[in-house]
Amino acid sequence: MKIVVIGTGYVGLVQGVCLAELGNEVACVDLDEAKITKLKNGESPIYEPGIEELIKKNLKQERIFFDTSLKKHLKNAEIVFIAVGTPSDGKGKADLKYVTAAAEDIGKNLNHYAIIVNKSTVPIGTGEMVKNTIKKYYKEDFDVVSNPEFLKEGAALDDFFHPDRVVIGVNGSKKAAERIAELYKVLNCPIVVTNLETAEMIKYASNSYLATQISFINSIANICEKVGADVTDVSRGMKLDKRIGERAFLNAGIGYGGSCFPKDVSAMVEIAKESKENFRILEEVEATNKEQRQKFIKKIVDNLGKIQGKRIAVWGIAFKAKTDDIREAPAITIIESLQNLGAEVLAYDPVAEENARRVMPDVIYVSRPQDACKKADALVIVTDWDEFKQVDLKAIASLMKNKYIFDGRNIYDSDEVKKTGFKYYGIGR
Ligand code: UDX
Repeated sequence: MKIVVIGTGYVGLVQGVCLAELGNEVACVDLDEAKITKLKNGESPIYEPGIEELIKKNLKQERIFFDTSLKKHLKNAEIVFIAVGTPSDGKGKADLKYVTAAAEDIGKNLNHYAIIVNKSTVPIGTGEMVKNTIKKYYKEDFDVVSNPEFLKEGAALDDFFHPDRVVIGVNGSKKAAERIAELYKVLNCPIVVTNLETAEMIKYASNSYLATQISFINSIANICEKVGADVTDVSRGMKLDKRIGERAFLNAGIGYGGSCFPKDVSAMVEIAKESKENFRILEEVEATNKEQRQKFIKKIVDNLGKIQGKRIAVWGIAFKAKTDDIREAPAITIIESLQNLGAEVLAYDPVAEENARRVMPDVIYVSRPQDACKKADALVIVTDWDEFKQVDLKAIASLMKNKYIFDGRNIYDSDEVKKTGFKYYGIGR
């Protein structure tokens, strides 16, 4: 099918490139000239494992086109995905200015029947807003469908080609939903067809539930520390219950970050308030998540003593492994707190350094993990990159002035670490 994707960010670019890979002809449009130029040269503006090869391959096969102009590509498009950002407006609500602008752009340039698909995570009822916005400019027939994304950064391609499910929401004619379902048929996964509001709710409820699991296990971890239990074994014991499941988000740590969970959880709380319902559980999920970082900082301060003048090595800045995304990353809170207490922070991240420099210019960035540890008083693990899991801790110990490890993601086995002379502090162990 001939498809347009508006927005070439973490969602739009993956959506566009993967639909092209499935054999569709896709135009990806974005206002950002620099991004489009990079993409035309086969370079990806985001770090996502495997994305650059797919961009190059589909450019070569002329299945994907990058452009700043929507008008040109809208002419023969059958499906238009809105995949623009829906950042938080700072008061807990999703800011829909980019979605509205995209809908207006579509309304002003549409000249035939097309299916408009909301891919961005949008508050419940946005589908109707998009429909009414387009109707202001375009009086002919078109349909609006909700098709929320469930892509995890760092695993987005795998999540696209092997989804647990596809959700399609439409109010009125089912034919638009069936047409969108055809797009995904080749993926052989369950397809849920429902109304717009339900599809939008499935997205928020799913992310809210995953975030709830994380704050749940972090609360359990905090109690484990007081009662002498080990939360990593608690988590393993829980996951073996088929009703909880092996892939449950029950890995204790310093809490969730990223551009989705924080934003979606606060938007869900807001939606509840606007519906005159309470969602106290989710408000506690947010509070627990914020507190978890502070508890980790307190653990460092309580055990390291005076922070003033101390040199602290930080491994990992991205909000999770396999991404360069530092939005709402715990590392930012932790590093800035340590610096405010007078610490000199040396930080390493395999791919997020460039993004980190923009936000934290006075951190000393190093290009190898061990370089952060020279004469350091403590090593703080913030992101669970695989490359940190196999390091020779004896060699690391020999570089350091004092031997403390604060493991914010429980990537090490505490007994093993203690054999190398380190004082080891994990989460919930
Ligand atoms: C999430 C959802 O998983 C995805 O379905 C949705 O489309 C977008 O938001 P993402 O934010 O990219 O994906 O990453 P995810 O792997 O979900 O991790 C989110 C945060 O939770 C990270 O900070 C991660 O470190 C943290 N996390 C995850 C935990 O602390 N414990 C866990 O067990 C799992």
